[in-house]
Amino acid sequence: MAPRVGRLVVLEGVEGAGKSTQLARLADRLRAAGADVRTFREPGGTPIGDRIRAILLDPDASMESRTEALLFMASRAQLVATAVRPALADGAVVLLDRFFLSTYAYQVGGRGLPEADVRAANAAATAGLVPDLTVLLSLPGAEGLVRAAARGPSDRMEKSGHDFHARVDAAFHSFAVPAWQAAHPEAGRIEVVDASGTPDDVGARVMRVVASDRKSTRLNSSHRCISYAVFCLKK
Ligand code: TMP
Repeated sequence: MAPRVGRLVVLEGVEGAGKSTQLARLADRLRAAGADVRTFREPGGTPIGDRIRAILLDPDASMESRTEALLFMASRAQLVATAVRPALADGAVVLLDRFFLSTYAYQVGGRGLPEADVRAANAAATAGLVPDLTVLLSLPGAEGLVRAAARGPSDRMEKSGHDFHARVDAAFHSFAVPAWQAAHPEAGRIEVVDASGTPDDVGARVMRVVASDRKSTRLNSSHRCISYAVFCLKK
């Protein structure tokens, strides 16, 4: 396996939390400063993953929870092996719109699948890849669903009902607890960011958290400067 020298930053949160908007802003800022930034979304991000995404989100499809979980994993396995690991080996900053915390929230918390099964399948899909930082955008679930509904017709996941989304929301909140993080080292460092307010407000909070990532890095300073040129230029 190629050595890993880039940084993997994940944006997570409930529907409508603003992940995609914030990911695009972050990518723009890092690129403007000269960083090599690659962005992907889950499910999807590869030709196979995009086909799996269409199946998963098809509002007319009916699906067993285990089928759903394994399709998310299949998309992830393809993305990690063919896009994320090669980008990290190039020294890029990889920004992911969702990763396996979403599986833990939606398939374990929401659908009620056994955590041990999902964790094992996920470990197989990621081959043990641990994010350097996950920014967990926090918004009351109901508020997020209202924002998501305003974007257009609901997909299969969005149509899963109020109780399901309340469980997903509760699961995301549980990931902020230090005891949960200590019991799930595969998730890496998780930072909760308040997603209320304007995109500028939230963007400033996200930048603060990402800027602090270099402090926890185990890479030497020249690698940090390649990955996070924006902060090196500022120094
Ligand atoms: P989105 O990327 O447009 O938010 O749509 C992806 C949907 O899939 C969203 O409802 C969250 C859900 N999802 C899961 O249920 N499990 C997963 O592992 C991932 C990555 C997403």
